[in-house]
Amino acid sequence: MIERLQPGVPLPAWVTELDAATFGEAWGPLARHEGLWVLGGAAFARWSLVPLAHEGELLRIAVDPERRGRGLGRELLKAVQSELRAAGITELHLEVRAGNAAARALYAACGWREVGRRAKYYGDGEDAVLCAWTAPKR
Ligand SMILES: CC(C)(COP(=O)(O)OP(=O)(O)OC[C@H]1O[C@@H](n2cnc3c(N)ncnc32)[C@H](O)[C@@H]1OP(=O)(O)O)[C@@H](O)C(=O)NCCC(=O)NCCS
Repeated sequence: MIERLQPGVPLPAWVTELDAATFGEAWGPLARHEGLWVLGGAAFARWSLVPLAHEGELLRIAVDPERRGRGLGRELLKAVQSELRAAGITELHLEVRAGNAAARALYAACGWREVGRRAKYYGDGEDAVLCAWTAPKR
C-alpha cells in the first residue's frame, strides 16, 4: 500500500534507516513544502512541491536493497506521478548521478526525459543528469 505522509508527522524509523543506508546521511522532518510517499516499509520517495507553479522535484527515492528489481520503485513513482497530476502538479524535475544506471533506467521506464547535464555537480566530481516529466495531456 502507498501512503502519503504530511509535514509535522514524525518520519518512520525505517525511512530514516533506509535514507541513511542509501544516501550516507538521513534527512530530518519534512519541510512545509515537502511530501513523502511510502510503500509498505520497503520504499520511499521525498518531494519538494510548488503547487502554485504546478511543479514538483523528486529529492530522493530509495527501495530496500533486499527488495530491488521487483517493480517497487516503478510502482511507487508511477503512483505519485498520477497523484500529483490529479493535484494539478504537471511538471516534475530531478537530478541523478550520471553513473546511476538503475535510477536513470527507472526514470526512463516511468516516462521521464533526460533534458540536461550539470558537469562536476556532485562533491566527488560526478556529473548530474537533469530529468523532466510532463503530465500527458488528458
Ligand atoms: C533506483 C531504484 C529506486 C530502483 O528501484 P527498483 O524497485 O529496484 O526498480 P524497479 O524494480 O521498479 O525497476 C524499474 C525499472 O528500472 C530499471 N532498473 C531497476 N533496477 C535496475 C538495475 N539495477 N539496472 C538497470 N536497470 C534497472 C529497469 O528498467 C526496470 O524496468 P524492468 O523491471 O522492466 O527492467 C533502486 O535501485 C534504489 O533504491 N537505488 C538506490 C537509491 C537511488 O539510487 N535512488 C535514486 C537517486 S536519484
